[in-house]
Amino acid sequence: MAARELTGNVHAVGAIDWDRQMFDELIPTPEGTSYNAYVVQGSEKTALIDTVDPSKEEEFITNLARLGVGTIDYVVINHAEQDHSGSLPILLELFPMATVIATEKGKELISSLLLIPEARVQAVEDGATISLGDRTLEFLHTPWVHWPDTMLTYLREDGILFSCDLFGSHLATSDLYVQDDQAIEQSAKRYFAEIMMPFRHVIGKYIERVERLDLSLIAPSHGPIHDSPPRILDLYRSWISDEVKNEVVIPFVSMHGSTKQMVEHLTEALIERGVHVHPFNLASADTGSIAMALVDAATVVIASPTVLFGPHPKVVYATFLINMLKPKTRCMSIIGSFGWGGKTVQAIVDMLPNIKADMLDPVYIKGQAIEEDLRQLEHLADEILKKHKEYNIV
Ligand code: FEO
Repeated sequence: MAARELTGNVHAVGAIDWDRQMFDELIPTPEGTSYNAYVVQGSEKTALIDTVDPSKEEEFITNLARLGVGTIDYVVINHAEQDHSGSLPILLELFPMATVIATEKGKELISSLLLIPEARVQAVEDGATISLGDRTLEFLHTPWVHWPDTMLTYLREDGILFSCDLFGSHLATSDLYVQDDQAIEQSAKRYFAEIMMPFRHVIGKYIERVERLDLSLIAPSHGPIHDSPPRILDLYRSWISDEVKNEVVIPFVSMHGSTKQMVEHLTEALIERGVHVHPFNLASADTGSIAMALVDAATVVIASPTVLFGPHPKVVYATFLINMLKPKTRCMSIIGSFGWGGKTVQAIVDMLPNIKADMLDPVYIKGQAIEEDLRQLEHLADEILKKHKEYNIV
């Protein structure tokens, strides 16, 4: 991606990664991503906001050269994860006089992850400012979105908030700014679900702080820039709220069809009762889609056969992920089938200490479902609907 102008003194110098299909070897990125970095040129000093993933450092350095950036006084590292800090070592070789700016925690992480001497890094307090002459950078500490080191950088005179991962999206696009509101809602929601959802309770106070700024742009470090900040702030407000929707997510896997038959019967029973259902076959489902569905769903029903003495390993993976992502789920249950025994239900319950939900009686049966088992699934659908009515979402 060539360097592009945001304002006369601010340029985007990051890189688009069209081909990246997986992040952290965990998060599918079907639409690729970008690593955004920005140069702010004041009347006296020049600052670089974040760097890029090391795989794109050549493109990044080329952008700086083509823009004619001869001096960098400050390199602001909002967050030490390597997709933003990873090109710092080469950058500091090229600009040996540059001072790195980070939070105290960021300083520690930059030093340990990138082996940058701590003497090169200046830690800044929450609310601290740095003058670039006619431009001022203000630093807002925002720990746990999504690492403990994170901060946002606000360019006061231009009203630009460099928000790093917060408000970002894994979306490779040649558009510098958001062009398609529907598309960005989907990709930003996916990003929120995978990265930010476990921290939704702290994000609220950061949004309140951001709202008090005079904002023209929110420039994240992944995906296009928000030139209508209220829109992404509204979306985040709805995602972090405790409000749930009349939706049930059913992650399942089936070995010989018994559990699948149960999932299909429950799905049909829920549809008949006017409840939206998202069954995800874990044999092929993309974990990002499951994470997205978890953002709003009132209920999760985990469906697993018993393998040897416990849940199927694919269900173990999905259950671990659900517990880690801490969705706002209000109601849960477990269904499935066993051959000769095991402790699948208890094993799944034990894997969900972070989920504080109403637990409905499981429907866990021996072998293939008979008429009585199918009636139990219909009863479970009734109980889910009853809960949804209690939550005032039906
Ligand atoms: Fe985009 Fe947490 O790094």
